[in-house]
Formats: sequence, structure tokens, C-alpha cells
Amino acid sequence: MKIVKRPETMQGITMGLKRKGGTIGFVPTMGALHEGHLSLIRRARRENDIVIVSIFVNPLQFGPSEDLKRYPRPFGKDKKLCLQEGVDFLFYPDAGALYPRDFRTQISVKGLEDVLCGKSRPGHFRGVSTVVAKLFNIVQPDNAYFGQKDSQQAVIIRRMVKDLNMPLEIVVMPIIREKDGLAMSSRNAYLENKERETAPVVYRALQGAGTLVAKGIRDSGKIAAAIKNILISQKSGPVPVIDYVAVVDLESLLPVRTISRDARTLIALAARIGKTRLIDNVIIGRRKKGKW
Ligand code: PAJ
Repeated sequence: MKIVKRPETMQGITMGLKRKGGTIGFVPTMGALHEGHLSLIRRARRENDIVIVSIFVNPLQFGPSEDLKRYPRPFGKDKKLCLQEGVDFLFYPDAGALYPRDFRTQISVKGLEDVLCGKSRPGHFRGVSTVVAKLFNIVQPDNAYFGQKDSQQAVIIRRMVKDLNMPLEIVVMPIIREKDGLAMSSRNAYLENKERETAPVVYRALQGAGTLVAKGIRDSGKIAAAIKNILISQKSGPVPVIDYVAVVDLESLLPVRTISRDARTLIALAARIGKTRLIDNVIIGRRKKGKW
């Protein structure tokens, strides 16, 4: 495995690889790798000749009061994991190399970036779209792998790729969870003992919603109310503070009134346990060919 720091070097390598005709699979990350990330890397490994992983804690997607400084950066451990998974290139740029002083361009995916998580994280998704577009231009992947864990991010990146005719496929992979149901996240490390014990209620609430839908309840208002009720009825440990519970169309992110089996509906939530913001989601409805 080769570690590459400079964007120009990385781009030179990928241009060479492309001339030889092999396929490139790409997994963009911010590091602190866990089984969720590894599931993406493994799929990329199965489906491509060359696998490139990036580790970059992107300052552009952090708000002024967010955790940019304390975001975990266990580079030695991450490097070892990438090596074990058969990654060919680990792209590990400095912020200064990706954002020189005269950097001005940002990508905005209107209508998708300011709802759900975007409401409480203004500018976040612009930061994500911008860095991902840059990484795509540097790495030039045929396939890029994202997790359903960050469902809004995946929706936005798919839209950006389509709107800007970027020549690659976006593959979205299922959420990898801890045994007790908590969706794996680099930020779970922030949870204190009692908070960690409470955290699985987030997924239990979504499962509760899934059961209601399976029973034939299709009114999104009732589903959202049931989720909120499970969250705030949490008895032992800190009660989650709900940021949002949303029932939306998986492509437009517009609210859905009545859930239909023939459409893809995203039920997503964000809640704070202590100081840690957790997100999770489930998707309802039959998957259409070639779609997420
Ligand atoms: P990061 O949070 O490191 O996540 C990298 C990728 O791993 C994302 O596509 C995310 O959805 C996926 N992922 C995280 N937890 C997962 C889980 N439990 N199961 C499955 N997949 C999971 O998302 C980012 O970084 C950044 O915004 C990035 C795209 C790298 C741009 O900076």
C-alpha cells in the first residue's frame, strides 16, 4: 500500500492507472475507521482492480462550534486496517494542500442541503459536496462507495454526480451496527458510559416505526409521533433531545404524507445524547433496479 499526501501526485497516479484501463474503486473517509468503513472498502476491493481510500478531516464541513479539533485521528491504526483490507493507495492530504489560501469554489446542491441535518448544520453539506467533488477529480474513480448511515449525504452526492455528469457510479451500502443496534460511528467514542447505554434507543425507535409500517400504518405523522414517543420515553439514563424525525422521499427529501410500498421512503432522525449528536435511518419500500 502506498500512502500519498499530495493531490497532484495522487492525480498523476490515477491518470496513469486510467491509461492502463483498470477500474478504480474509491472510499472517501475522515478516518477513525470502523466496521462501517471497512464494509465499504471490502466491497470496493471485490469490485475494482485498484482500491483507493482517502482520509481527510474536512474543515469545510464542520461548523464553528463543531468538533473539528477533537475529531479522532488514529492514523497509525487506520493505516494498518487499510493495509489489512488490501487497499492499494491511501490518500492522506493536508488541509493546506486541498484548500490553498485563494480557494473560492463551493458546490451547492440546492433544496437537498438545507433540510434535515442541513437545518442545524448550515454549510455542512456544501462542505461535503465540495470536498467530494475535489476528491473525485483527484482520484477519478469508476465506483465510489458511501454508507446509508449518512443518508442525506448519499442523496446529495448522487444528485451532484447526476447533475454535473460526473463519470462514475455511486454505490450506497447498508448501515453496519453494534450488537445492540447502535449504528457504528467515529463519534460514538464521545459517548460516556450512561449515554452509551441509552444510545441504542435511537435504532429501537426506528425499528418500532418499521413494525408499524409492516402492520399497515402508513400515515407519516403517526409514524413520526411513535418514533418520538419511544425516544422520549427512555427511562434509564439520559433522555435523547430530538433534533428532527423525518419521513421523506429518498430522492427529493420532500416530506411524504402516506408511505407507499412502491416508493422509497426514508425515515431519518437526529438526536442528541449528552453532547453527542447521533443520526440513524431506515428505508421503506421496494428497491428499483439501478437505484439505491
Ligand atoms: P466518514 O464519517 O468517515 O464516513 C465515511 C463513509 O463511511 C461514509 O460514506 C459513511 O456513510 C460511511 N459510514 C459511516 N458509518 C457507517 C456505518 N455504520 N455503516 C456503513 N457505512 C458507514 O462521511 C464522511 O466521512 C465525510 O462526510 C466524507 C464523505 C469523507 C467527506 O468528507
